Amino acid sequence: MHIRDIDFEDRLRINELKDSLKDSKIIGRDIIYFDTLSSTNTYAMKLSENGCKEGIIIISNSQSSGKGRFDRTWVSPPNKNLYMSIILKPYVSPEEAAILSLMTAVSCVKGLRKISTINTSIKWPNDIVVNDKKLGGILIETRSENKKISIAVIGIGINVNFRFCEMPEEIREIATSLKEETGLDYPRTEVVSVILKELDIWYNLFLKGNKEKIIDEWIRHSSTIEKHIRVKSGNFIYSGIAVGVDEHGRLLLKDNDSIIRISSGDVTVLR
Ligand code: BTN
Repeated sequence: MHIRDIDFEDRLRINELKDSLKDSKIIGRDIIYFDTLSSTNTYAMKLSENGCKEGIIIISNSQSSGKGRFDRTWVSPPNKNLYMSIILKPYVSPEEAAILSLMTAVSCVKGLRKISTINTSIKWPNDIVVNDKKLGGILIETRSENKKISIAVIGIGINVNFRFCEMPEEIREIATSLKEETGLDYPRTEVVSVILKELDIWYNLFLKGNKEKIIDEWIRHSSTIEKHIRVKSGNFIYSGIAVGVDEHGRLLLKDNDSIIRISSGDVTVLR
């Protein structure tokens, strides 16, 4: 893809984005843009609880209280990065939420690989990383009705043109951006577009029950599998070799002769 010169503020061009998604089956049916929001996930959840179709995108130029996993803050300054939430209504069992999360990570990595040559990969469950530094994160929040997921808000944050010198000190060592990895400026509109096009493909496969294909693709793009890792899960710390993920998206960790299944946690790659 040709990376164009971008204007100083790199405005998100919503009409162009809508146009690029006109062939989507579900994702991007409507796009709602804000200059600032507390959190696109919070807004998307409120909107969907009041009743709306699936496939709507909430995108904001900045967030005042961006949310990360485990109640962390997601640093969200204006004009630099992507902060968006996609409203889905999959009506599948709550155990499938983890597959939605793997599916989103696959879509982000496949999209990012289309616009950049850097080796973006997935750290379990859904961190988007380059050489173990975090380029993006995914936060999925769900509501259930009659034992089915009635709403899934898929929050995606990607560091696009964020410079190390602009990052708060506490994330400078662990985060990165497309700009820092390549030296190039990326028009955010194109970055959103490639990710959402992939998400449309993978969500349709998900709805058709193609779980195995999603897991296979996740493994293909993962930098966790076959590595010696440490996982902090609640008050427990496990270590061993990551050997796969199961049909519920749980990480399979081989420790001596036993396999431990981990459903949530923070991974550190040891070597
Ligand atoms: C993580 O901790 O890795 C997940 C980060 C998710 C951040 C995105 S930015 C858009 C959406 N809105 C939020 O408040 N969080 C997610």
